[in-house]
Parts: sequence; C-alpha cells; structure tokens
Amino acid sequence: MDETLLVEHLRAARWQEIIILDEVESTNGYALQLLAEGTLRDGAVIIADRQTAGRGRFKRPWFSDGGLALTVAVMSGEPPHRVGPVTLNAGLAVAKGLKAATGHDFYLKYPNDVMSEKEHGKKVAGILVEAKPAQGGTALIIGIGVNVEQELFPDEINSIAASLHQLGLEARREVVAAEILNALEDDIERPFCDLREEWLNMDCTIGKAVRIKNLKVDVEGIAAGLDGDGALLVETARGTERITAGDVIFGE
Ligand code: BTN
Repeated sequence: MDETLLVEHLRAARWQEIIILDEVESTNGYALQLLAEGTLRDGAVIIADRQTAGRGRFKRPWFSDGGLALTVAVMSGEPPHRVGPVTLNAGLAVAKGLKAATGHDFYLKYPNDVMSEKEHGKKVAGILVEAKPAQGGTALIIGIGVNVEQELFPDEINSIAASLHQLGLEARREVVAAEILNALEDDIERPFCDLREEWLNMDCTIGKAVRIKNLKVDVEGIAAGLDGDGALLVETARGTERITAGDVIFGE
C-alpha cells in the first residue's frame, strides 16, 4: 500500500492516524487489540496488505488476498444500544466511494453487502461492524473488505463474489481506500433517517423474495421497505415483520 498515493486522494480530515500493515490476522482484530491496550484513537484507520484470518459476519472467513482490508475506529458517545445501524451508513459510504473510484454504479443488499449490479449482481464488498463499550460510550470498529484485484475466488464463493478487476474496473487499492474514507467522513455519523432515501436509491433488496436466516426462526417473505431506524420490513404470511439482524438470502 502506497501511503503517499492514498493521502493524495484523501480529502477527509476525519481520519488522522493511518496505520498500514504488511500482514495481520485481521484489521478488525488489530483495532480491538489497540482498544484493549487503551491506544485506539477516534479516527484511526488500519489497512493491511494481507490478512491471514480476515473475518466476515457470523464468524465466516473473509478472503482478502488481492483485496482491500480496511478498518476505521469511531468513538461514539452513545451506549451500544443507541448507536444506530452503522453497518447501513458504512455500506452506503462504500458504494459511493466505489462509484467515485471507478465510475460504476454499485447497489446495496441489506444489510451489509455491496453488489455489482441491481439484478443478479455479485458481492464486491462487505462490512463487519464490531461495537464495544468504551469510555462511557461505544467504540465502533468498522471493517470493510473490498474485492479489488482478485482474479479468482475459492470455489465456495466463486459464483457469488466478484472483484473490481473481474468487472473490468481497474482501480488502485489506495484510490479505492481514499474514496471510501472520503465518503465515510460524510456519512458515518449521520442519523440513518437522513440517509434512508439515498440508501433506497441504491438498494437491490426491496421487492425481492427473501429468506432471513440466523434468527431463531427463519423469516420468509417479500422485502417491502426500510424504516427510518434501518430495519427491513418483510411481508410474510403472518403479516409485516421488522428485521434488524440475520442474513438476507434472495428467494429462488
Ligand atoms: C461480510 O461481508 O461478512 C463482512 C466482511 C468484512 C471483511 C473486512 S476486511 C477488513 C476487516 N477485517 C476483518 O477481519 N474483517 C473486515
């Protein structure tokens, strides 16, 4: 990672400390370690050229060789239950940052996937937010993985993941990182209700048959909307359900 090139494209003043690592288990894990040691600063950015144990949501592995692995730390004065749907804010910023870096339109699949197309798109980026109580508020560890230069993915995700390179979009990881950081500065601390319209303009979830896994009971229905708190509204046989967790799978 060429820090000079990154800084050349960085307009945001919010991100003061940029830590670039050759290799780490996980940039989120590294941020959590700094937090435990008391040295994680608000606005810190951690970028690794390689993660040996990158993690996705629900403890899934995240393959980031050839990709961008970036974590930012935001210290919120709010307790964890009041910080709002930061994943949604971050997803919007990532989609906007990718558009700025490549000129291509990206779409948001609820809650945390950035997709290459509105219909039948592949996953280009994902977000893992880890929130920990800290200093009377909450440390938000916002991890972003973007598929940038990968030529191939492991068999199990090859049909659902795509890199910018595979899409014919050549962008330097430094430029992608800087544009995401520029967009994050604008969006990460805004109340979600202010961003809802913009999120909906890039959404590719609503109107589709969805199945939400990983809750106690699977929910199946049609994604019908997003409320001002960032919950997905799903029309089911039992009526409208509000979904704030779980994995959304598009129905067959
Ligand atoms: C997902 O889609 O499940 C979330 C993927 C998040 C991956 C990023 S890469 C940078 C940061 N460090 C990690 O270990 N995970 C996140």
